[in-house]
Parts: sequence; C-alpha cells; structure tokens
Amino acid sequence: MKRQYKYDSLFSTLAAPVLKSGKLEPLRQYTQHGKCTCYDHSLMVARTALAMAMRLPFRFHKDQLVRGALLHDYFLYDWHTVKLDRLHGFAHPYIALENAKRDFDLTPIEENIIVRHMFPLTPVPPKYRESLLVTLADKHCANKEFFIGVGRKLSQKKVFAQIARAFSVLIALLPWT
Ligand SMILES: [Fe+2]
Ligand SMILES: [Fe+2]
Repeated sequence: MKRQYKYDSLFSTLAAPVLKSGKLEPLRQYTQHGKCTCYDHSLMVARTALAMAMRLPFRFHKDQLVRGALLHDYFLYDWHTVKLDRLHGFAHPYIALENAKRDFDLTPIEENIIVRHMFPLTPVPPKYRESLLVTLADKHCANKEFFIGVGRKLSQKKVFAQIARAFSVLIALLPWT
C-alpha cells in the first residue's frame, strides 16, 4: 500500500508536464479496448511501465519512460471507424510519433518508445530498455482491458486470468526465443 502510494506520487510528478499541457485531453473521446478510452489506456500503460521499472534491478530514464508511454498511442483518431491505407495496428505507431513530434520535444528514447511499442507486430524490436518495458506494459494493459471489456466477472475467473497472462507473456516473449 505504502509502495503503491510512493509510485503514484512519483508518477504524478513525472507525468505532470505532459498531462498539464492538455494535449492528451482529445484521447478521452476515443475508445481503445472495451470500455477503456485511449486516455485511460495511455495512463495505465505509463503507470504499469513505471511500476515495472521500480521493481527491476536496472537503471531507467523514468521521466522519458513515463512521457513516451503517455504518448505511445497519440494517434488521435477513432481506430474503429477511420479507414487507413494500412491496418491500424501497423500504421498507428508512426502516426502517433508524427503527432507527438509536432506537439512535444521528444528525446530519442521517447521516439523509440512510441514507434516500436507494437513489436512484434511491427518487426523492428525496441532499441532501449525503456521501449521494451512500454512494449510489455502495453500488451499487459491491452489484455486486461480486453477482459474488462468482455465482462469484469469473466476477468475475475481464475482460469481466464491465467489464460490472459499466458497469452500476454507468449506475445511478449515469443520473438525473443
Ligand atoms: Fe498502440
Ligand atoms: Fe497502447
């Protein structure tokens, strides 16, 4: 409980520059997975990536990790209705990067977090440990949101939770084996 509070406080500090800019607000109107908006998804991924970084015995650029995670899905359209030349899954990291470069000053780590977060769907792997962490956090959160979308009750059934975890671990780790 105490540790969670500590992370929340750190998260608020690190996320403040992006959140206070107000530029993430449009994400509230777009649905990501299930009933989760792109805004809530982006915050959840950033919180999860930071919590993972705090528990791992490596040094992370935590400010860039949180900023990049907050902007990883900054594509600014309803992917359920907008038709693109390529499938949304392949196209949106590049669109998000373009938008983020227009609206924020990005570091190379933040750029890489955004453009590589769909690995292994997009085949070039993340370059930095911060990018890898956001890639894993994104899959974990998308998985949770999907199960919340099909029913909170269902998601709490142990067998489905185990399937969800196995599925996300498989997606996250398979290309590395
Ligand atoms: Fe994404
Ligand atoms: Fe995402």
